[in-house]
Amino acid sequence: MWDRLLTDCHVATLVPQPGNPLGAFPNAAIGIADGRIVRVGKRAELAGFRAKEVTALGGAWVTPGLVDCHTHLVFGGTRANEHAMRRAGASYEEIAKAGGGIASTVAATKAASTDELRDSARRRLHALMAGGVTTIEIKSGYGLDTAAEIRLLNTAKAIGRDEPVRIVPTLLALHALPPEALQNAEDRNAYVKMVAEEMIPAVAKLGLATSADAFCETIAFTPQEVERIFTAARANGLPVRLHAEQLSNQNGAALAAKYKALSADHLEHLDAAGAKAMAAAGTVAVLLPGAYYALNEKKKPPVQLLRDHAVPIAIATDCNPGTSPLLSPTLAMNMACTLFGLTPEEAITGMTINAARALGLAHDIGSVEAGKAADLAVWRIADIAELGYWIGMPGPERRIFAGVDA
Ligand code: NIG
Ligand code: FE
Repeated sequence: MWDRLLTDCHVATLVPQPGNPLGAFPNAAIGIADGRIVRVGKRAELAGFRAKEVTALGGAWVTPGLVDCHTHLVFGGTRANEHAMRRAGASYEEIAKAGGGIASTVAATKAASTDELRDSARRRLHALMAGGVTTIEIKSGYGLDTAAEIRLLNTAKAIGRDEPVRIVPTLLALHALPPEALQNAEDRNAYVKMVAEEMIPAVAKLGLATSADAFCETIAFTPQEVERIFTAARANGLPVRLHAEQLSNQNGAALAAKYKALSADHLEHLDAAGAKAMAAAGTVAVLLPGAYYALNEKKKPPVQLLRDHAVPIAIATDCNPGTSPLLSPTLAMNMACTLFGLTPEEAITGMTINAARALGLAHDIGSVEAGKAADLAVWRIADIAELGYWIGMPGPERRIFAGVDA
């Protein structure tokens, strides 16, 4: 006896078949028990099975619950002022160098109480959940010392408590230099050393993060500094990921691949050597069209290069106060299609199975197949391509987490 039978639906299983990249299964039904999918099959075939609850979905489309694999959801304040500054012509780099940017969010985060941090992050979480998200990665990175980073990771954990959502916390170990560190070589070195020798071991010991991230960029950290952090992360049992090639080519993608990174993210300035290294390492390319859009960037990530090298492509909101105040996963998919040239199938794959891969969770989530968590989204649409088509579409009609409407 199953717990639940979802029937009278079309399923985008995300188990690709020849000529059917989404593994679309029309006139289907899904059996669920103990929060997991036990069977996906033809509606008529599954009609004979007994279930405690039968839900007829009236011809809706079912997808895996959406996976937002790159966010900076927990922060104090906003950076609405920078939106205005950019309209007046200032660039992200100029704003950062003038003390705005990440540093201003670090200050606002420090000033916020833990309750305020939790409540504002939860409001953003609810918006993303209403858009169909059932799994979300949340980075720290606005603390910049060990205690402050631990506070952010604990807050990320706390907002998931009692909520029907899976939170995947990441220690963003190198995001910006703390303002009190003068920008000289000695202070930089001391900060990177502290992160490698104190922050990473402390966070790993507490089990507060499932991976470590860094920002490799001229206005952030050098490849050599990132390498020290990657070495420390791996030694402490944490897989790595990297903000790479966002504003310039630092060969960050190849560096990430060298450390078998789960993902390299942004990638506007990725070159062929980087793509090749990512393919060999199985590193997922996470594209973040919200940041490209908000910064009004002109250089697009080389999508064809990623396809040519068969690098899996994921899409995420990058929800953060500075470069991507984006609270809609389906708008991220739409932007990935319109701005970056992804096909609707690639965009849907990018927020489901490939995003699950980027989090190292593809064994558990990201597709509709027997054995995986019954995290699903039910969409009142006639054509699955509508997910990348509407601009500002409402969320799914039903959001199912571990088999239960939530
Ligand atoms: O993914 N690139 C670095 N990190 C964020 C931006 C963070 C911020 O500006 O507050 C990003 O775009
Ligand atoms: Fe980011």
